[in-house]
Parts: sequence; structure tokens; C-alpha cells
Amino acid sequence: MIHHDVIIVGGGLSGLRAAIEAKRAGLDVAILSQVHPGRSHSGAAQGGINAALGNHPDGHDDTWEKHAFDTTKGGDYLGDQDAIMKMTQDAIRVIYEMDHWGCPFSRYEDGRITQRPFGGAGFPRCCYGADKTGHYLLHTLVEQSYKFGVKLYVEQYVSKLIVHDGVCQGVIAYDMIRGGFEAFTAHAVVIATGGSGRIYENSTNALINTGGGMAMAYQAGVPLKDMEFIQFHPTGLFTTKILMTEGARGEGGYLLNGLGERYMEKYAPKFMELAPRDIVARAGQTEINEGRGINGMPYVHLDLRHLGAEKILERLPGIRDLAIHFEGVDPIEEPIPVVPSQHYTMGGIDTNYDGATPMPGLWAAGECACVSVHGANRLGGNSLLETIVFGRRSGADVVRYMEGLSGKRPPNPRTADAALRAMEDKVDALHRAKGTEDAYKLRTEMALVTRDYFGVFRDEATMAAGLEKLLDVKARSKNVGLRVSTGAFNLDMIRTLDLESMIDVALCMAAGAVNRTESRGAHFRTDHNKRDDANWLKHTLAFYRPDEAGPRLDFKPVTLGTFEPQERVY
Ligand code: FUM
Repeated sequence: MIHHDVIIVGGGLSGLRAAIEAKRAGLDVAILSQVHPGRSHSGAAQGGINAALGNHPDGHDDTWEKHAFDTTKGGDYLGDQDAIMKMTQDAIRVIYEMDHWGCPFSRYEDGRITQRPFGGAGFPRCCYGADKTGHYLLHTLVEQSYKFGVKLYVEQYVSKLIVHDGVCQGVIAYDMIRGGFEAFTAHAVVIATGGSGRIYENSTNALINTGGGMAMAYQAGVPLKDMEFIQFHPTGLFTTKILMTEGARGEGGYLLNGLGERYMEKYAPKFMELAPRDIVARAGQTEINEGRGINGMPYVHLDLRHLGAEKILERLPGIRDLAIHFEGVDPIEEPIPVVPSQHYTMGGIDTNYDGATPMPGLWAAGECACVSVHGANRLGGNSLLETIVFGRRSGADVVRYMEGLSGKRPPNPRTADAALRAMEDKVDALHRAKGTEDAYKLRTEMALVTRDYFGVFRDEATMAAGLEKLLDVKARSKNVGLRVSTGAFNLDMIRTLDLESMIDVALCMAAGAVNRTESRGAHFRTDHNKRDDANWLKHTLAFYRPDEAGPRLDFKPVTLGTFEPQERVY
């Protein structure tokens, strides 16, 4: 058994930032991560991070309040306005902190950080480092975590929370290098495991984005909030769904249909390609569905040619490389085939704006959490921001919690030991049962169901059929055959345990989507195509039921504030 004051599960931006905050207050902090932090999915974020710095020549009148308004409206008024205000206010300080820690942002000639326009924003407020912003931020925080002396355990697959008398006291992790499970006890645990994009077959997300952290909290009794809100990015590369950043449109890129029309003129005449993502994704999908894809194919074009080679090479070098290597298209010469692709999970573990979950001793930050600042549709550039703002806030809240703990009992070793044995027994039992179902096939089946039944456009009959299919996958997953139960790098076991998490997360998404009989943000129903504030201006909460396949749903009010819900026009 290993003990630290604080355990952070996940080494991406939010995990690193939470760890640094707790560590610099003098706590003994460890990060457990499936991959080395430098390989976390935060590094795949391209276009930028929002803050009302007012550096852009057209952005001098920007303020954090205007950023808050854009975020609230972008989220179709489902975001909690107190949390949104915290995020947009904190944005400015965290950008300068990252700057002072050495993040190589792109600069104007006078040295100030450059900003580009991004979707749904009234001002150009997206700070960036070319089209590798996530990578630069991530490596800056990795360096800082070394400097502050955060203890790092890599290749750790965290599979379960240790909970004693309703209080989180640690985690059980499989050490991939050594083989075998270990109990890690702690006074505070922060889940920072990222999103659950891989429950969809057509996702921009990395393979590790399975929703494992969400499932761990959910199965321990913490609700998942607003899981029905799934973001489809308008421009995933056609063949692989690799992200083609919104920054490409921020730099002036066009979206074209098979008739060569800039089709956004029909859907958002003012904001055009820089309308919020839900609107741009629906527009692209409509063009495809109505036969105006390129040569009748299910994709549209992202055209950058008019930007010229110099601008593309300076601002979008990564996009060009990805398009060349994964689609065989050089954007300097040809338009890029793109398609709306699953990109982000607006919902997640229910937290307040300090990252605290309803379970004492447990926090969550980043995409796995739902604070909620994104409401029903996240604005581009607010995701990187959320990771750092709420990573920092969670770390600070853990410090306050620990100060109030003195004299209280340490984690219970017997509970930790029992949790460890339960995990080992579960894996043994899976192996001994010699089940006949294949975890890999079931995972693919699930991901095709989410893609085909819970996409950009939704309706009752399709979703109800999809829910049935997911319940069937869940039932069959009880009979999965685990080929190998021991040893190092046991990917068979990891994928089998992943499947259980992924199906639970998918069921929360599906149940919430079927239940919410309105259209709001990214949740668009053709059979209920209007927002319904009278009945649905509320958060969905999905609670785990150990003896049933799907969740129990409940609701809680949205925290309103300065901005009255209005019609969302762009
Ligand atoms: O398009 C992008 O660069 C993605 C940014 C984001 O998801 O915030």
C-alpha cells in the first residue's frame, strides 16, 4: 500500500495544474497516469485558449464579462453563470502565469501574445502557439511539475476508487510495467482523466479517452451531469477524424459544399464559419445529408488555399502536416475533406466551481468534470482554459480541505486492502468464467451505435432503438472472455475493464438524450426542434444503479445570473 496526501488521476493539463497548486502549498502530491503526461490528450488541442487580453487590433474593447456572455450564449444558457464568471475572470491570470512559466505563445512584434478569432466569440480572444497550443501548454506544465517536485507514477491504469464511509480515500491502480494491482491511499483524490470521446467510433479523441475516470466516480455513487450534450467538431479529417482546428477558420478558412458555395451564409450569415460549433456542425451535416457533399460523398471542404503558403506555414503548419500525411492533401494546393466528428463531452462528473464533487475527498477537473461552464455547447478555446482554471481551483480547494482535516483519522487500511482484493478477485473471476463474448467486438459495436443513433441530429425512435442496442451490449458484456488475467502490459484486461466503463458512460449519454425532449446546443432533436426553457432549463444528473443496466435520472437547477436566456442568433 502506498500513501500520499493527494492523488491526482491523470497527467494532462488539469491534473498537472491541480498537482502543482497542491504541491506548492507543501502537500505530498502524486500523479498516477496511464501515459507519460507529455503524451496526454491535452497535447492534441490545436487552436488556442481564450482570455480577454484585448491584444488583437480588433479586440481592445474585450472584457472578461463579454467573454462570460459569449460563453453563456454559446452554451445555450445551460451553463452555470457563477462558474462561467469565475472561469472568464481567472482566464487572464492563468494565461499570464503560463506565459511567465515559459509557454511559447505566438507573439505580435511588440512581444504581446497574439489572439485569433474563434467560433461564437464577439472579439478575437483566442491566444495560441501556431496550431500546437495544447502541446506547448502541456509541456510547460510538465516542466513545472518537475520543478515543484510532484511525484509521478506513469503507466498506471486506475480502475477503482477506495471509499470508506462515503469518503474517498484513494484508488486502486494496475501497474502496467510491473503487472499487478496496488492500493494508493490519500486524503484527497482529484480525477483529471479527460473525456469519453472514444465511446463514439467517429471521434477526434485519443484512444485513452474512454471515460474511465467518469465511470469510476459514477460507479462509486457520484452523479454524472448533462451527459447527453456531445460536441461534434465541424472539421474532423474525413478518413481518420483527426482534428482540423477551428483556428483554420479563425485564420480565414472557408467551408465549401459540392456546389462550391460557402454554405454557412445560409445558416449563420453574420458569423459565417465562426458560428459556434453546434451550428457549424449541423450545417455541414445538413449539406452532406441533402446531397451537397463533395461529388456526392459524405464530406465537405475546408478551403485554406486563399490564405497563401506563407500564412499556412506560419500559423497552421501542423494542420498542413496532418492533412498531407493522413489525407494525402496539401492545403496549400487543395481543399481539405472534412466531416463533423465527435470531439468533446460537455457533461461529466458533477462538481462545483472549485472542482469538489458531492463525495467528500473527491474532486474532478477538466473534460471529465462538468462544472458546468460549457452548458449545452462548448465554445472553441474554452476547453484548454477550463483545464487550467479548474485544475488550479481544484488544487487550491484540496489545500483548504487538508487544512481543515488536522486531527481527523487517516485513510482506513482495511478498506483499502478490501478494495484491492475485490479488484483482484474481479479480474480472476472474469478469467475463470471463460466467457464467450469478445470485448473488442463489443466496444466497436457500442461505438457504432453511438455514432449512428446519437449523432448531430437525433429523434425519439432512432435514439430509443439505439438505447436498446446499448443495453444489449451491456448485457452481453457480462459474458466477456478475459484471455489473460495476470502479467505486465495486460492490454486484454485493460480493454475488458474499459468496456465496462465505456458502456456505462454511453448509457448515461443515451438515457439523458432520450429523456431531454427539447433541442439545446449540441443536443438537436428533429422531433423537438426548439429550446424549451419552461421545462428543460435544468441539468440532468445520472445516478448509477448497481442492479440495473442504465442510470436513474434526476435534475438540478441551472445557476442563472446577469444574462437572461435569449434566442440564440449568429
Ligand atoms: O479546433 C480546435 O482547435 C479545438 C479547440 C477546442 O476544442 O477548444
